[in-house]
Amino acid sequence: MVKVNNITLKNYRNFKSLKANFENVNIIYGNNGTGKTNILESISLMGKGRGFRNANIINLIYKNENNFLVESEIEQNLNKYNLKIYSEYFENKYKKILNLDNENTKDTNKFIETSFSFLYFLPEMERLFLSSPTYRRNFLDKLIFSKNKNYNKLINSYKRNIIERSKILNLPTYDLNWIKTIENAIIKTGLEIYKLRNKQISLLNDELEHFNKYNNYPFSAKFEIEDNFYNNTIDEQKYAKSLEGTRNIDSQIGGAKIGPHKSDLYAIVNEQTNASQLSTGQQKTLILMTLFAQCKYLINQNIKPILLFDEICSHLDDINRKILLDLTKQFDAQFFFTGTEKSLFSFMSTNVNFYNISKL
Ligand SMILES: Nc1ncnc2c1ncn2[C@@H]1O[C@H](COP(=O)(O)OP(=O)(O)OP(=O)(O)O)[C@@H](O)[C@H]1O
Ligand SMILES: [Mg+2]
Repeated sequence: MVKVNNITLKNYRNFKSLKANFENVNIIYGNNGTGKTNILESISLMGKGRGFRNANIINLIYKNENNFLVESEIEQNLNKYNLKIYSEYFENKYKKILNLDNENTKDTNKFIETSFSFLYFLPEMERLFLSSPTYRRNFLDKLIFSKNKNYNKLINSYKRNIIERSKILNLPTYDLNWIKTIENAIIKTGLEIYKLRNKQISLLNDELEHFNKYNNYPFSAKFEIEDNFYNNTIDEQKYAKSLEGTRNIDSQIGGAKIGPHKSDLYAIVNEQTNASQLSTGQQKTLILMTLFAQCKYLINQNIKPILLFDEICSHLDDINRKILLDLTKQFDAQFFFTGTEKSLFSFMSTNVNFYNISKL
């Protein structure tokens, strides 16, 4: 998979202009507000969408400038490519444009989309186990997406059909065949989402168990999906019957009472404690362990992910910090970590590219 060799930012967020070269392990450090998260975000733009903060394109442009440019050399199987990402104002809207070796075609876009696999940690993800089920489902879905690039199409199609069904149910009268067609589409995509999520959880649990055996992890953890409707006896017929049975209530309340959009994710630590009851630092450690477990899985699948971990050190004690950062040695992946102090990473000195952003 792809490695990012360097990056040049022009009129991007707080950077009028910036150039940086990257290695496999990169640590970007500097004071608050110097632009560390912005640099990680500019790399995340190489994936599908508007970066890891899902920002409006206009907010990516340096204040009062017209457009931004993120240019980089990327490398895949010893082939080097020039990748340009920039904003374009068209029909009253800002759009993100990707150019690979100065070409912008369906093929180049597909190549870029499928070549990058990101795993990222943002400071607000510390609250994963205390946030809403939606936030946790998104976390799980992003893990699936890191391997399966068609997964977001499946999710979008499912969501579209749920909305469509709601609209029909709210009509004074509707054609029964019409609702059945929509519900069949919901069932097909819904069962596929359940299947992929269960598969993801099971391989994550396997990797976590493996890690625990061979590394000095602070605790063991097992993820589970909580869903009031689904179990492994649910097939198309049962699903159809249940959806039919909830039409009435769904037409009154809106949405749909059952389905994978109602699932939640939780983790049990050391076979007894719900992760939401751990301390802040322990919860963060668990989330990072999970991301590293997914990293390991991707590497086993011949995917070389790019890990963007913002503020990786805060709330971690020396022991957990060392355990987690030491893992970078084991993985053939590209890492970008940020922190306010270089000293937090001092024990990692070999083969690490330190980048002091405050001195620019
Ligand atoms: N479009 C923009 N134009 C100019 N400046 C911007 C723009 N968007 C964001 N900024 C500024 O970029 C600065 C750096 O933001 P960033 O979040 O990357 O800092 P950071 O180094 O990650 O800080 P912290 O250590 O607090 O996390 C902020 O002060 C913000 O106001
Ligand atoms: Mg930041």
